[in-house]
Amino acid sequence: MNVFKTIAATAVPLFVFAASSASAQVDASAAEALMKKSGCTKCHAVAAKKEGPPYKETATKYKGKANAEAELFKHLTTNPKVKVDDKEELHDNLKTKNEADIRNVVRYILTR
Ligand code: HEC
Repeated sequence: MNVFKTIAATAVPLFVFAASSASAQVDASAAEALMKKSGCTKCHAVAAKKEGPPYKETATKYKGKANAEAELFKHLTTNPKVKVDDKEELHDNLKTKNEADIRNVVRYILTR
C-alpha cells in the first residue's frame, strides 16, 4: 500500500510550511498569557485606559515608524522610568529572557 507513503511524503512539507509561515505572525494567546504573567494587565488593556496607555493608542503612536519594534523591545526589557500617578516608577519588564517571545508581544501590541 503505497498510499501511506504518499501521504507521509506530502504531509511533512505541508506541516513545515505551515509552521514557518505562522512564526511570522502574532501568537495572540501566547502574548496575552505572557503579559498576564508579567503583570501588564494591571496597568494596560487593549482599548481601555488604565494606569498606562491602551495598546491601541501605542499602536497608533508608532504606526508607520521604522523603529517601532526596536523602541518597544527596549521599553519592555530595560525598566525605563515612567510616571504612574505622578510618581516616577520603573516600568516592568516582560518576565522572560526569550527574545522571540518578547518580539511576539511587541508585534501583538503594534497590531492592535
Ligand atoms: C504600574 C503600572 C504599569 C505596569 C505594571 C506596566 N505598565 Fe506599561 N506603562 C505604564 C505607564 C504609566 C506608561 C506610560 C509611560 C509614558 O508615557 O511615559 C506605560 C507605557 C507602556 C507602553 C508604551 C510605550 C511607548 O513607548 O509608548 C507599552 C507598550 C507598555 N507600557 C506595555 C507594558 C507591558 C507589556 C507591561 C508588562 C510587562 C507593562 N506595560 C506593565 C504603566 C505600567
